[in-house]
Amino acid sequence: MNVVVTNSYDESCAYVADMICRLVNEKPDCKLGLATGGTPVPMYKKLIEANQAGKVDFSKVRTVNLDEYCGIPATHDQSYRYFMNTNLFDHINIDKANTYVASGMGDPQANAAALEAKVREGGVADLQLLGIGNNGHIAFNEAADKLHATAHIEKLTESTIHANSRFFEKEEDVPTTAITMGMGDILAAKCVVLIATGLAKTEAIRGLVMDDVITTHNPSTMLKMHGNVYVVIDRELADAVGYKG
Ligand code: F6R
Repeated sequence: MNVVVTNSYDESCAYVADMICRLVNEKPDCKLGLATGGTPVPMYKKLIEANQAGKVDFSKVRTVNLDEYCGIPATHDQSYRYFMNTNLFDHINIDKANTYVASGMGDPQANAAALEAKVREGGVADLQLLGIGNNGHIAFNEAADKLHATAHIEKLTESTIHANSRFFEKEEDVPTTAITMGMGDILAAKCVVLIATGLAKTEAIRGLVMDDVITTHNPSTMLKMHGNVYVVIDRELADAVGYKG
């Protein structure tokens, strides 16, 4: 595992944006696995700037998102489709027909099967971007006694509902289930890049970078089984974790 420690969160975002731009320049029709949440937003801003400055062309890029809330339509301002449009797709020259965010509406099992097919369609992701939950979840694979390999419906934990309530008017408005890629879908990507910042992520990142233990109670630890992972953290988080490398 490559642990990259930067001087600041802004530098972490620049590092990851640069990785993505280099990939897209080398392989214009690459497939990106994308994430939502607060963490990647400044990184997406850097991709927008690079695109608008003519430094990277997204016209042939294909994307598949990790997850989507169940029960809210794509037009809802907290849906992950809406998030991706407003934080990235609306501002770059990507063809939205080449972007996929699972549907949270309609038949959940059919939606999970459709997401699973998209993960494999035209080959697996060249790069999968991840954030990490305070409890170590990646996508919406929640810390539990068992995990799932493929796309499925997940009941969100209290910790995740509470953490995500900052985006909603009240905690009761946060959906309690979500559709998510499974662990096998994430591990299938050719390269996995996880960005984390903030002291709330300390325990999760400690479990990920400080030893070789793999536990379903910190799903991110399964990334230790992948040969091409970058964990990008800033010095503040690295110090809190006790990471010296
Ligand atoms: C989002 C996702 C989640 C988030 C995680 C961290 O698509 O899959 O796993 O990455 O909940 O969220 P933030 O970045 O808001 O702390």
